[in-house]
Amino acid sequence: MGIWTRREAMNITVTPQGAVGAEVSNVDLNDLDDGTLSELRSAYAQYSVLFFHGQKLTPAAHINFAERWGAINVNRFFTPVENHPQIAEVRKEPEQKFNIGGGWHTDHSYDQIPALGSLLYAKEVPLMGGDTLFASCAAAFDTLSEGIKDMLRSLRAVHSSRHVFGKVAALPDDMAGLFANADQATQDAEHPVVIRHPLSGREVLYVNPGFTTHFVGWTVPESEALLAYLYQHIARPEHTCRFHWQPGSLAFWDNRATWHLAVNDYHGERRLMHRITVEGEPLTAANA
Ligand code: SIN
Repeated sequence: MGIWTRREAMNITVTPQGAVGAEVSNVDLNDLDDGTLSELRSAYAQYSVLFFHGQKLTPAAHINFAERWGAINVNRFFTPVENHPQIAEVRKEPEQKFNIGGGWHTDHSYDQIPALGSLLYAKEVPLMGGDTLFASCAAAFDTLSEGIKDMLRSLRAVHSSRHVFGKVAALPDDMAGLFANADQATQDAEHPVVIRHPLSGREVLYVNPGFTTHFVGWTVPESEALLAYLYQHIARPEHTCRFHWQPGSLAFWDNRATWHLAVNDYHGERRLMHRITVEGEPLTAANA
């Protein structure tokens, strides 16, 4: 045996949370060996969101962990953490009424090559509330009839950031100044409505209320009726899970397989999170 010996994998425990997500325990994200990382990769492909508690991550350690999954996408709209442009701040102050991410959405679906996932780390959380909900867009596709699945596989949809981060966005007053670079929210992206997930191989419904504007070749009103049906279907409780944060919790979700929603039920308290987003790859249609 040479002098370079591989360290043993940590004895991690992965506890599924229902249709989406799994809590991972017995792991220190500051000190990950290759064996444990490979177990995390399998769990990520299978459960689409990994939850961790009790992590002590400096911004540099958060960046290190994120970089083991891919290149970091430097967010052009969010306020960065001081001296760490790779980390976006997700902040709600006690006097603020609205929060970031308070409606169901998929981060970065408006990009030509949407992000792989986001790693959200809790710095300060309210005494009660401030949970995040997740929905599985793969489980939601599985539970549709064969008839609608076939029709959806033939569709593409347009996604945009203009109405959220752009000059035309109608943000509430107390969110003014939270986002930057409105002039960069100009490009729209077209993606298949049913994608083949790059890690799990599952078929996934890839539309979301935050950023999808309409189906390609359909008008906005025509699109609205079908999108409304799909949105209430994806958000059904049996496709979702709810994560309760503590300081030091981290959630790492797959943007190609899930939606998320930050519950806004903690007025008068501060919630401060650090978010890193990892670059993805072009999406392919399930029927390609
Ligand atoms: C987000 O939408 O990226 C933030 C989610 C959260 O704050 O829980």
